[in-house]
Amino acid sequence: MRDFILAANWKLNKTPSEASQFFRDFNEKLEDRLSLPPTAGGESRDIRGFGEGPNGGRRRIVFFVPALLVATSEQVVKDTGLEIGGQNIWVETKGAFTGENSSDVLSAMGAAWALVGHSERRSIFGETDKHTAQKMKTALASGLSAMLCVGETLAEREAGDNLKVVFRQLEEGLSLITDVIAKDPSRVAIAYEPVWAIGTGKVATPEQASEVHQALRKRLAEFLGKSNAGSAASGTTSASGTAVAAEIALLYGGSVKPDNAKALGLKPDIDGFLVGGASLEPDSFLGLF
Ligand code: 13P
Repeated sequence: MRDFILAANWKLNKTPSEASQFFRDFNEKLEDRLSLPPTAGGESRDIRGFGEGPNGGRRRIVFFVPALLVATSEQVVKDTGLEIGGQNIWVETKGAFTGENSSDVLSAMGAAWALVGHSERRSIFGETDKHTAQKMKTALASGLSAMLCVGETLAEREAGDNLKVVFRQLEEGLSLITDVIAKDPSRVAIAYEPVWAIGTGKVATPEQASEVHQALRKRLAEFLGKSNAGSAASGTTSASGTAVAAEIALLYGGSVKPDNAKALGLKPDIDGFLVGGASLEPDSFLGLF
């Protein structure tokens, strides 16, 4: 029953007025495109969502916007069912951390998600696996859902180390939150973004992506089965880890465009997309849904 999530990562793009205009256009086109019936009795789209995904969960649309655009974005998407997230948080929620973002504040502003461990955070800003573990914990403690990004560089793939790298990022990133995952796996999502595919136009083939997604889900099941996530769910065997892992959405990211999304999305272990460039225009982003 895991959700299917279409997620935008706007990175450092758009002004407040551009963001507002985007959401107004996007929402109008989305209603047309999906032929969404009007919400009944004043019920907001938040409750009704966008229908059922291929694995029985909800179809969700999340926008990871720059922190300075969260307030504006929240105002415009209110009651539309579109969800807003921050692209980065700090491991603490307050204190002497000049320039950082607090997950408590994001949550108070109405955001629903935090993105953690994006490869640009890791490579440009020195974010480590230890940071990602703490940030995942902090995000959940603030009441947000959290999406953990994992992915290998080209050199790591060519050395045959891609699975080793993503398994390490996965296990470290989730190491402090296995208890929360057991209670509500839908609060966590994983995005597999091979670094060599980000912003390069070189998308992973559906087979390459699917191979990693299947391996990630299997590893997730083993990891959660050994941890208290599996045991809290239903006993101590890896079978319980399998049940919990089956509830977690695994997204693919890296040069996803309308012309390659369909084939990727047909793979049963790909539960949505995390999209950079193609999320900046309403038409190209809608083309992925
Ligand atoms: P592109 O879709 O532009 O390749 O970016 C992917 C990404 O980094 C999303 O987080």
